[in-house]
This record gives sequence, C-alpha cells and structure tokens, in this order.
Amino acid sequence: MKFNIAVIPGDGIGPEIVKEAKKVLDAVAKKYDHVFDYTEVLMGGASIDVHGIPLTDEAIEVCKKSDAVLMGSIGGNTSTSPWYRLSPDKRPEAGLLKLRKSLNLFANLRPAVLYDELKGACPLKEEIIGDGFDMMIMRELTGGLYFGERSTKEENGVMTAHDSLTYNENEIRRIAKRGFDIAMKRSKKVTSVDKANVLDSSRLWRKVVEEVAKDYPEVTYEHMLVDNCAMQLVKNPGQFDVILTENMFGDILSDEASMVTGSIGMLASASLNDTKFGLYEPSHGSAPDIAGQGIANPLATILSAAMMLRYSFDLDKEADDIENAVKTVLKAGYRTGDIMQDGKTSVGTVEMGDILVKTILGE
Ligand code: IPM
Ligand code: MG
Repeated sequence: MKFNIAVIPGDGIGPEIVKEAKKVLDAVAKKYDHVFDYTEVLMGGASIDVHGIPLTDEAIEVCKKSDAVLMGSIGGNTSTSPWYRLSPDKRPEAGLLKLRKSLNLFANLRPAVLYDELKGACPLKEEIIGDGFDMMIMRELTGGLYFGERSTKEENGVMTAHDSLTYNENEIRRIAKRGFDIAMKRSKKVTSVDKANVLDSSRLWRKVVEEVAKDYPEVTYEHMLVDNCAMQLVKNPGQFDVILTENMFGDILSDEASMVTGSIGMLASASLNDTKFGLYEPSHGSAPDIAGQGIANPLATILSAAMMLRYSFDLDKEADDIENAVKTVLKAGYRTGDIMQDGKTSVGTVEMGDILVKTILGE
C-alpha cells in the first residue's frame, strides 16, 4: 500500500532522529512491499529562519493532504536562541500549537512504559518499581489554558497578565470517550485527573467523565486530583493504566511519567483527530545542547513511527515488527548515551538506526 507522510524534521536533534525513523520505515516498506512517500515540511525555528514565521499556511496544507505527519522536535535554547526574542506568537512552539489546532488533534496519547531491559535506568527504588509499569496518558490537546484568551496589560502602573481555562462539555466528552476506548484495549482502568476541588472546568470535566463512563461498564474508573496524581506517579506508578486529563495537567504529568521510566529518549506519542489522521512525535524535546553530535537517541521517534503505522495506517503487524526490533536491540545490549549502563554497547544515532534496520530485515 502507498501512504503519503508529511515529515517535519524541526530543530535541534529533530533532523537527526527523523532521518533514522525514515530509514526504519523504509526497511518496513521493503519488507512488506509498501510505499511511504515523504514530503518535507518546515516548522518551528527551521521555518522562522526561512519564512520568518514558525508555520506557514502552505505547510499546514501539505500536512492536511497527507495520511499522517511524522515530526522530530522543535524549539531551541530559550535563553540564547534569537527565536526567543520574537513575540510569543512567532516563536517555534507557536507553530506546533497552530498545527495541533488546525488539524484538530485533540487526543494526545503518551505511553510511559518501563522497558524490562532499562529497569536499571529507572530513578525509583526497586520496591516501588515492582513488576514495572505501562501506562498511557491521554491528554486533551486543543483546549484549556493553551488556547484560552490571554493578555498582558498595564493598569495603574501595575502589569497584569491573564490566561483563561475554558472547556465545553463536547470537548471533554470526545477526549473522555477516547480515554475509555483505549482502556478497553488495555487493562480497562481509567484514572481521570482534575482539580475539581478548586476549578469549575474540572467539576464539569468530572461530571462529563462520569456520564461517559456509564457507556463502558467493563472499565473501572476513578477520579484523582492532579496534585495527588503527581505524587502517586512516584509513589506507586504501577497503579495506573490510562490517565485521562486536560491539556495543561497532561503536559506536566506526561513529563513526570516519562522521567519515572528513566528513558524519556524512548517514549513515543500520537496526536489524533476524529479520523485516522495523526501527528506522531517523540515525547522529548529538541535537546539543542546535543544537536548535531550524532549521539541523540532516535528510538522515541522510531517508536512514534510505529504508532503511526498502527493508528493511522492500520498496519499492526508492521508496527509490532518495529516495536519488537527495538526490544531485540535493547536485549542485545545496544544503548545510546542517555540510556547507557555498565557493560552495554554504546552506539550513536545512526548506528542505532542501522542496527534496527538489520534486525527488521533479518540481516
Ligand atoms: C509538549 C510540549 C509542548 C506543549 C510545547 C513545546 C508547546 O511541552 O508537547 O508537551 O506544552 O504541549
Ligand atoms: Mg510538554
């Protein structure tokens, strides 16, 4: 089958890791006789340098016409990069937010998995790790504080900044359904995270989640306050399966969850709308400090490409193939610097991609 993929290499380590993901996709294409056709799209700092803005309308059009978008990472060093001297709406991150909104990518899936092979990299004590953990954060991505009205003004000599957090019930319902749907394919447990003891938007969130839950009698669900959830993630991460939450809480909790796995360089993500279309990117950032050195871990992007095959192209077997190859390569002891441990074999970005390609092709 033939698929059109819009590719956003982005900034920092983005171009290096995306290159490896394409290499792995090409190996899958060869093995299973598919065609992946790539169109490169500029976003973030790379777009600012060429067009003066982080995302052009043409770039959005290319993404819309594709079957899926594969992205590296965007942004630079916020204290030293000239991109951050621009007004907030012209900075790299504004491009990503605009793309999420333009493509209606309201459902952000962020798996946080502790790989057996990487248990040693987990910062938690062994008794807390227990049998390990495997959770899915389902983060609402196109509403809440990120897209509310905001302003900064001076009144009577005092600067005042304002951001607003708004959700309507439809926005909550559609993400809640996604959360319960995915729970049905996993261990049928949803933890809905809010701040209902303070925020109206959270009280509505809770009410709508309860309504949606009625349609999923097999799924057990609970509500958890976000501050408690932040604590539980380090106290007993094994208790979670699907964490369903709003945009800002999901941003923060997904970083925390990825850190407790000890391998943020391994974690993929998918941002989906209500069709098969999706944007796939690693959960980590652009790591400008190590960009261009050939040492970045490409696995999160490669695993994001696997999610693309699974969720947007319905190529489950091919996705399994990539995921199994990653496990095989880890078992064989290959590690990039971020997950390196004593006695393992240290490899660079390109070498990691090459080894995966060989594993997939059985060479
Ligand atoms: C993420 C990032 C983005 C977000 C930034 C780059 C705008 O932190 O994808 O989690 O906050 O959503
Ligand atoms: Mg984030």
